[in-house]
Amino acid sequence: MAYSTEKGIFISFEGIDGSGKSTQMAIAAKYIRGKGFDVITTREPGGTKLAEKIRDILLDNALGGRVTPMAELLLYLASRHQHSEETIVPHLNSGSVVLTDRYADSSTAYQGGGRGLGLDLVEGLNELVIPRWPDLTIIIDVPIEIGLSRMGNRRPDRLEEEGTNFLKAVRAAYLEIAGRHTERIVVVDGSGNIEKTSAQVIFTIERFLAGINRIGISGG
Ligand SMILES: Nc1ncnc2c1ncn2[C@@H]1O[C@H](COP(=O)(O)OP(=O)(O)O)[C@@H](O)[C@H]1O
Ligand SMILES: [Mg+2]
Repeated sequence: MAYSTEKGIFISFEGIDGSGKSTQMAIAAKYIRGKGFDVITTREPGGTKLAEKIRDILLDNALGGRVTPMAELLLYLASRHQHSEETIVPHLNSGSVVLTDRYADSSTAYQGGGRGLGLDLVEGLNELVIPRWPDLTIIIDVPIEIGLSRMGNRRPDRLEEEGTNFLKAVRAAYLEIAGRHTERIVVVDGSGNIEKTSAQVIFTIERFLAGINRIGISGG
């Protein structure tokens, strides 16, 4: 089991590649720091030595189709457990705001939806390896064509090589996950420019922080 922690503030950014997660997370980090919070940023599945090695395996094009969906899921979960224990929990325990570029919902969307393992199964297994669900999850939603076009002509990794049907299933799964967890997840339209998207992201964070103040939880 992962350690559980109720301290700190935990926010994840989700969405398909090219949706703008990294861009928006950087803007959000700056904004939240400006409010006086201690903010740390991390990403899935990286952040620790083990997790980086697992990431290298997972993104290796040489493996082609020879990774079963369940093997892929379990590697991500192993990586997530290590990342949670080594990086996320200590920072939450010291009262920081932890922003992560992808977390548990990525597995639910990609392996549950995209690979067809089912959302329930993946959510259940996620529960085993995470200290808690994020306090807020921002899904940046874009049509897959926009995501693909923003990725330019950099060489696609093993997961990106999947066809458009796979990506469509992932996007649909994200929206279904959002519908299941409206108390935690906000979907932001990422199809506009960076400023238009960040206005929605900042609004969402502002509203979330105001809610935290009302119920008397602090970041410290
Ligand atoms: N709203 C936007 N409009 C146009 N280009 C964007 C937008 N958001 C991000 N980009 C650009 O698209 C690329 C992918 O963005 P990024 O934030 O890395 O996406 P992700 O982390 O979701 O893969 C980057 O080159 C980034 O500068
Ligand atoms: Mg990114």
